[in-house]
Amino acid sequence: MNNLILSKRVLAPEITLLEVEAPRIQKRWKAGQFIIIRPTAQSERIPLTIVDSSQERHSITMVIQAIGKTTKEAVALQPGDSLCDLVGPLGEPATISTGQKVVCMAGGVGVAELLPVAKAFHDAGNHVTALCGARSDSYRILDAELQTAVDVLQWATDDGTFGFHGNVVQLLQSLAQPGTFSEGHVIGPIPMMKAAAEATRSWNLKLHASLNPVMIDGTGMCGGCRVTVGNEVKFACVDGPEFDAHLVDFDELTRRNRAYREMEQESLNHICQVGLGQ
Ligand SMILES: Cc1cc2nc3c(=O)[nH]c(=O)nc-3n(C[C@H](O)[C@H](O)[C@H](O)COP(=O)(O)OP(=O)(O)OC[C@H]3O[C@@H](n4cnc5c(N)ncnc54)[C@H](O)[C@@H]3O)c2cc1C
Ligand code: FES
Repeated sequence: MNNLILSKRVLAPEITLLEVEAPRIQKRWKAGQFIIIRPTAQSERIPLTIVDSSQERHSITMVIQAIGKTTKEAVALQPGDSLCDLVGPLGEPATISTGQKVVCMAGGVGVAELLPVAKAFHDAGNHVTALCGARSDSYRILDAELQTAVDVLQWATDDGTFGFHGNVVQLLQSLAQPGTFSEGHVIGPIPMMKAAAEATRSWNLKLHASLNPVMIDGTGMCGGCRVTVGNEVKFACVDGPEFDAHLVDFDELTRRNRAYREMEQESLNHICQVGLGQ
């Protein structure tokens, strides 16, 4: 069977890991790339980051936060089920330099998306500090995997139940100053990426942000993922998803991601009546 789900693990409330058989993607993917899936024949297409892979199991791993209709459909699938469609790897791989002091920052499900990038920085000979954020202790994910992938791992929780009390950007400001890090990567909610960019604007830190605009085709044709970077129009699915964080127009990204909110809510509430008769 194609796109067979091999295993499933709930990592935290609303956050689930799915391992899917995908031999061709497993052979080709690089850190920072993503896939587009359609969980069922009735589902929409959604982009998800490739988090890990296994050569022995011919599989790739994705971690999904169930926030809307399609992500809920995906996490409802069970081992033995198949995804209806799976395409990838898509997008450009993350920029990985060598011999730098690197800070990797993520919040929420972004922590899973950060893992392969942090690993790639570490494998390339950088000293990697990972600063990860969660709502509270019970929302922390992939702690063991991150511990083995980076040199220093610190957590921030919004309610102070684990690690630093506050958010990841406040944690960064509490332990770093201009010159502490030469390169960085940030991934997570837009307000967090914007705050990270603002906090480091004068730091002479090369900060890459992995953006999460709404995507439809994932091939540069539909324009759905249009973002403005340094006054230039870019398409995150083919030019990104990673861009220079200090040049991204985060306010425009926020506006565009909110544009379909009412329709998304409607689609989540909609119970299909087709075929039910009178
Ligand atoms: C390159 C890329 C990689 C991604 N990787 C992952 C991943 O590894 N794991 C994961 O859980 N999610 C990831 N996302 C986000 C994921 O694609 C969206 O959460 C998903 O499309 C929402 O679909 P839905 O039908 O469940 O929710 P919808 O009903 O479409 O939306 C529900 C809510 O989520 C918001 N939303 C919708 N799309 C996005 C988006 N792209 N980013 C942020 N908020 C959004 C909406 O504004 C709305 O408030 C990624 C997005 C991109 C662009
Ligand atoms: S998703 Fe259509 S152009 Fe990027």
